[in-house]
Amino acid sequence: MNETIKLLTSHQSIRKFTNQPVTQEQLDTIISAAQWASSSSHVQAYSIIHVTNAGMRQQISEWTGNQSYVVNSPIFLVWCADLHRLRTAYEIHENADKAYLGTAENWIVATVDAALAAQNAAIAAESLGMGIVYIGSVRNHIEGVSTLLRLPKYTSPLFGMCIGYPDQDPGQRPRLPQKAVLHHNTYQTDGMEEQILKYDQTMKDYILKRTGGKRSGTWSEDMRNKLKTPTRMDVKAYLEAQGLDVE
Ligand SMILES: Cc1cc2nc3c(=O)[nH]c(=O)nc-3n(C[C@H](O)[C@H](O)[C@H](O)COP(=O)(O)O)c2cc1C
Repeated sequence: MNETIKLLTSHQSIRKFTNQPVTQEQLDTIISAAQWASSSSHVQAYSIIHVTNAGMRQQISEWTGNQSYVVNSPIFLVWCADLHRLRTAYEIHENADKAYLGTAENWIVATVDAALAAQNAAIAAESLGMGIVYIGSVRNHIEGVSTLLRLPKYTSPLFGMCIGYPDQDPGQRPRLPQKAVLHHNTYQTDGMEEQILKYDQTMKDYILKRTGGKRSGTWSEDMRNKLKTPTRMDVKAYLEAQGLDVE
């Protein structure tokens, strides 16, 4: 196993950081790594907001359900899908009202671009000995976050990312068996339930160990619970108001 693969397969989200700062040079390196991600048609349809303002971080933390690391991490970034820049590029040549901009296809392009860049940043940070955690809960109050960050039309916050030096070693969360995620030629539904049940046992053992016997939920129960209640149902209306995913 080479060093890169060792790094990738030793990932764990970090939610407690030391006071050791991340230097501007390190941040520049992390963002540079992000920018070298592949990009659909080279559109580079994302923007990153580096939030340094303590009041803004406090507000976002509250909106995420008081996730303390949003306030306490040395670096907090918000990753946004961004079709606004493309609109501006189009406008240089002709009226962008005619552009096929906020289509479902371009929304996929922008979210994929942002995710690829973000994961490059995550790996870069981890390679420098730092830890990261993604913060999807910025979408708990998507409109509030959007207004706070003064995001223009044709953009949307997707997720935050806390970066810093780890002050914990929580342990790795087991993944689904490879068999469950890798299909050959065609999608295989055969054996799926068995694979899930096997994974449930793995996760149950892991959670029992991680919580000192206090919790014992399985992965399929977690997924059931997640999908049983409506979550962030305002996102669709927000996206439409932003001119995204509308055609
Ligand atoms: C898009 C995205 C959003 C996430 N949002 C949150 C979040 O709001 N808060 C949090 O503590 N973890 C969040 N996570 C971290 C996941 O819970 C974590 O990656 C997952 O449980 C697997 O654990 P691991 O990263 O330690 O392997 C998020 C991860 C992703 C990819």
